[in-house]
Amino acid sequence: MPHYTQTPAPIGIFDSGYGGLTILNDIQKLLPRYDYIYLGDNARTPYGSRSFDVVYEYTLQCVKQLFEQGCHLVILACNTASAKALRTIQQNDLAQLDPHRRVLGVIRPTVEEIGNITHTRHVGLLGTVGTIQSESYPLEIKKLYPDIRVVGEACPMFVPLIENNEHNDAGADFFVQKYISELLAKDNKIDTIILGCTHYPLLQQKIKAILPDKIQVVSQGRYVAASLATYLLRHPEIDAKCTKGGKVSYYTTESPEKFISSASIFLNITIDAQRVALD
Ligand code: DGL
Repeated sequence: MPHYTQTPAPIGIFDSGYGGLTILNDIQKLLPRYDYIYLGDNARTPYGSRSFDVVYEYTLQCVKQLFEQGCHLVILACNTASAKALRTIQQNDLAQLDPHRRVLGVIRPTVEEIGNITHTRHVGLLGTVGTIQSESYPLEIKKLYPDIRVVGEACPMFVPLIENNEHNDAGADFFVQKYISELLAKDNKIDTIILGCTHYPLLQQKIKAILPDKIQVVSQGRYVAASLATYLLRHPEIDAKCTKGGKVSYYTTESPEKFISSASIFLNITIDAQRVALD
C-alpha cells in the first residue's frame, strides 16, 4: 500500500482538460475558504472517445497523482471519468491505495436535482461519446425518478473546439446547431437539457441562443458545489483533512504555458501552472 501523507491538504479537482475549471469555479464560489489542487490531463485529452479501460487507467493515474500531492478528497470534475472510472476506483482501488481517502464524481449531484427541474419529464442529455454510451445518466435518473425519459446526444466535436479555444468561432455554431437539432428530433417534449460534460458550459450561450425559452439548459457546477458542501458537513473527518487557506494550485500534464494562457481565458483571471509527469 502506498504511503500518502496524513497531514491535511487541498481538495483535488481532476478533469481530462480545461472543462473541470467550470466546476472548480462554482465550487470556489460556494466554498472559498478551502484550498484546491486542479489537475488537467491536457496531454491526453479528450477522454470522450476513449475506451472504458483507457479512461479508467488514465483517471486512476491522475487520482494517484493527487493523492501523492496529499489530497484526501478528489472530485472527478469530468463526466466521462465519472461514468467510466469512478465506481471501480471507489469499489476496488481505494481499499488498496488508502481506504480513508475519498473520490467523488459529478453525475450523481446532477441527477439528484433533475427531478426538481423538468416539468414535462422529458430530459435531453449532451455529453461525450463515452458518457452517452455508458448510459450512466439514464440508469441513475431511472433509479431516482422512474417517470423521467432521458434522450442523449453525443457531441464529439465540442471538447476539441473548447480545448483549442475555438468555441467562440463560427465553426462552433455549426456543431451546436447540428447536435441540438439531432437531440430535439429524437424527442420534441424535452424541456430540460443537461450539459453532461464539464467543458460544455463554455458553449452554453450559443446553445441557449438557438433554443426556445421553454427549454432550460442545466450546467452542473452549482449542483456539484452544493453537493460537496453537504458532503463536507456530513463528513467532518474528511473536512478536517482539507486545508483552508483559499488557495488554488494548477497542474497540467501538457505545457504549463499553454495551460496558463487557455485557463486564464476560461477563468478570467491570471493563473500560474506547473507540469506534472504521471507514473
Ligand atoms: N470534461 C469531460 C467530461 O465532463 C471530458 C471531456 C473529454 O475529455 O472528452 O466528460
